[in-house]
Amino acid sequence: MIESSSWVEKYRPKRITDVKGQPEALEKIRKFIESFSPNSSKKALILYGPPGIGKTTLAHVIAIESSAEIFELNASDLRNKDKLNEILKPAIQQKSLTKERKIILVDEADGISAVDRGGLQELLKLIDLSPAPVIITANDIWDKKLAPLRKKAEMVQVKQVDYKTIKDVLIYILRRENLFIKNEILTAISVKARGDLRAAINDLQTISKLKDPSSVIFDERNKETDIFNALKEVFKSRPSTELLSVYDEVNMPLDEIILWVEENIPQEYKGEELAKAFDALSRTDVFKGRIHKQQYWRFLVYENILLSYGISASKKEPKIGFTSYKKPSRILKIWMHNQRTMKKKSIAEKYAKYNHIGVKRALNEFNILKPILKKPEVQDELKLSEEEREYLNKS
Ligand SMILES: Nc1ncnc2c1ncn2[C@@H]1O[C@H](COP(=O)(O)OP(=O)(O)OP(=O)(O)O)[C@@H](O)[C@H]1O
Ligand SMILES: [Mg+2]
Repeated sequence: MIESSSWVEKYRPKRITDVKGQPEALEKIRKFIESFSPNSSKKALILYGPPGIGKTTLAHVIAIESSAEIFELNASDLRNKDKLNEILKPAIQQKSLTKERKIILVDEADGISAVDRGGLQELLKLIDLSPAPVIITANDIWDKKLAPLRKKAEMVQVKQVDYKTIKDVLIYILRRENLFIKNEILTAISVKARGDLRAAINDLQTISKLKDPSSVIFDERNKETDIFNALKEVFKSRPSTELLSVYDEVNMPLDEIILWVEENIPQEYKGEELAKAFDALSRTDVFKGRIHKQQYWRFLVYENILLSYGISASKKEPKIGFTSYKKPSRILKIWMHNQRTMKKKSIAEKYAKYNHIGVKRALNEFNILKPILKKPEVQDELKLSEEEREYLNKS
């Protein structure tokens, strides 16, 4: 349980006007609730997006605004027939209950896909039978198994909160608490949170307890500013040997950098330059193939050269002016998703080996195992890597 003195709880928005950002999501949920009828073609709405951006909060706030009562169900409730019947029966039978507004909230539905089919089937049934709108929240809803659920529901993406908005929230909280923290530190917290408002508020609370908040060192740099600067160097300036270290400062694996470069080549280069740049890029792929096949890591150097000097030298003249570089949206999502599944798999493999069980079984039971896997002693015992630990502790 979160302690009641936590600022995250204390400052959880109670009314719509307290919610920062998220205008589109709010509007869509409101419409959904208002136009809901038991015969609606879509009786459920899925709020999806990364952690700490207000999905659960949005559901509660809308409920308050439309004077609806929330019935909350979690993934394990769905596997519990008695509990489901208990909730559905009054909801189906008693007309008086349907007069008062109800919202059924299935919070953090991600768990459903990983555990068993039963939970999902129950959820689908619940949506069909429910006389009340069903709101579902999830971080990751793109599992193949969840396709039937996606079909039944209106999908609403909740976007990351930008750092300025996060900073506004932090300033508001500090005022309420009668505290002062330096502007640079607030900026650093907001940037470091990468859209996760909950993380930012927690950091703020921790830091505010320190005697000297300015002693805090922020090791995590702003990933996106770094890559934007590197792209600017590569695309705009003349090729030079200094360029070879341009990505050293970027806190991102080379594979991810490739996606950024790929996405932005057409923003800068046209015609012959474009062809040359893509040629350099395609050669990085050749090396990548060899690296994976032969585990010959020295080829990484060539990848880096092609991505920096190679891309830079594709142009005839240095470029001037401002270019707004784009984040590789779709591909990056798939890539990050794969990275995550890879981590999950490697953890499951270690666990399976340790316990002499099959990897498949470890994967199937992954969500049940999670609380155990989160224990530092267990992580030590399984010799989990930093990234694997981070994956577990974040999820
Ligand atoms: N848009 C927002 N405006 C104001 N405060 C917010 C907003 N989003 C999040 N918060 C703050 O962050 C906390 C966490 O938000 P919430 O629990 O709704 O996130 P979530 O998206 O449901 O995360 P998870 O995916 O981890 O369940 C809230 O208690 C609130 O203090
Ligand atoms: Mg939530």
